[in-house]
Amino acid sequence: MSDAIAVVLAAGKGTRMKSELPKVLHPIAGRPMIHWAVDAVLDAGATRAVVVVGHARDAVEAALRARFGERVAFAVQDDPRGTGHAVRCAVEAPDAGLGDFDGPVLISMGDCPCVRPETLRALLAATGSRPFGMMSSRLDDPTGYGRLLRDADGTVVAIREQKDCSADEQAVKDVNPGIYVVRGDFLRRALSELRDDNAQGELYLTDLAATAAAAATGAEDRVVDVPGDLGELLGVNDRSQLATVRAVLQARINETLARGGVGIVDPAATYIDADCEVAPDARLSPGVHLRGRCRIGPGAHVDVGCVLEDVEVAAGAYLKPYTVANESTVGPDAKVGPFAHLRPGSELGPKVKVGNFCETKKTRIGEGSSVGHLAYVGDGEIGRGVNVGAGVIFCNYDGYRKHVTTLEDGAFIGSDSQLVAPVTVGAGAYVASGSTVTRDVPADALAVSRAKQVNKEGYASRLKARMKPKE
Ligand code: UD1
Ligand code: CA
Repeated sequence: MSDAIAVVLAAGKGTRMKSELPKVLHPIAGRPMIHWAVDAVLDAGATRAVVVVGHARDAVEAALRARFGERVAFAVQDDPRGTGHAVRCAVEAPDAGLGDFDGPVLISMGDCPCVRPETLRALLAATGSRPFGMMSSRLDDPTGYGRLLRDADGTVVAIREQKDCSADEQAVKDVNPGIYVVRGDFLRRALSELRDDNAQGELYLTDLAATAAAAATGAEDRVVDVPGDLGELLGVNDRSQLATVRAVLQARINETLARGGVGIVDPAATYIDADCEVAPDARLSPGVHLRGRCRIGPGAHVDVGCVLEDVEVAAGAYLKPYTVANESTVGPDAKVGPFAHLRPGSELGPKVKVGNFCETKKTRIGEGSSVGHLAYVGDGEIGRGVNVGAGVIFCNYDGYRKHVTTLEDGAFIGSDSQLVAPVTVGAGAYVASGSTVTRDVPADALAVSRAKQVNKEGYASRLKARMKPKE
């Protein structure tokens, strides 16, 4: 079998999505829908994918270039006149390479993201050098799909669109999922013969089935169909179907991870984007979202309700419930949360502790240091073995610029202190609770900056006596 070229149709607007975003760019597990469809055809062995674009073509092309580079080519269909017309645009596109290609052309739909590469490979193998092969499926409710009409031997002789079906044909539950393999020379000839004398006034790609069936002379060139699993052939026309498809693809990701040794307590309630990596023996509790490109190390535990995006969690780390983190790294055996917020550029070293209601941003925290309770550390450089007490604030912003706070190894910052950056607290130094530190603190020193305490004996009852008559 010669190498295949794929054509993926994605020119439609997706009106039923009722969305500003083009249908094929709606994200599913962190990737635009069209990435899934194009990934499948390339993984199936197609040398190139020619994507037919039209509606919002600049955005669709940019999204595809970003992931697939030169492995995708584009054909423009300005005026959508049907799926047959769309494939004609692909054949005529100068850099698609289909003008004189006589090998297999794998045609699929950009809104059919669940199909697996191995299924497409099976279709390519079954079709071989025949003019026309297709996937097929059976549906209890075939509404909206083209129906397969078969001869006495069960060979497909035509695909009838719903709107062109007679009452008898409407009842057929054997449907066209919209995935085909068509030999290049036959494709060009049959496309040129398409007519739009049908209920929708369109050029139907599906008419190729009847053309191939009529031209067949024997077993080796008759139409073949490969029955497919429903879960793979689901198309997305509206948001409800998008949700269904998302669940199918998420289940697939989670199953693969679980088989690889990841402890996923409740797969239906665990949301992991396709480009995340989770090591064996890591645990993910219900309600966890891993977005973008997270990497979770072996033995790490991401507990209930954590939402992480582009976060690296090293081996043995524990993210307690409801930690929210972006573009950050968590070192081995570190403990974070519950209810912590790691903003971009937070780099937590080994055995670091960041406790409840703490916010970190663009701060490196060295081994064994602790930021335990209700603190804000932004634009910081924190050494090893540092203790940042409850309610400490790094005052990093003067209204114009951000400044750095540096805490050297072993520094101890008492609770409720404010460190007004730029400022450095030297190694082993103490800052007394409730201090406002505006000047550098030398190593080994104690900084206190608060009014001396005065106790006025008996003041409280005198005050009460004075206030009483006024009530
Ligand atoms: C098509 C099939 C139908 C099949 C169904 C499976 C035809 C005539 N019918 O119907 O037999 O059961 O898919 O889902 O092929 N597109 C273009 N340009 C166009 C028209 C469509 O690029 O001019 C693209 C759309 O963006 C979409 C895909 O082709 O990605 C399918 O088009 P759609 O209008 O949804 O076809 P269906 O009516 O679903
Ligand atoms: Ca469709």
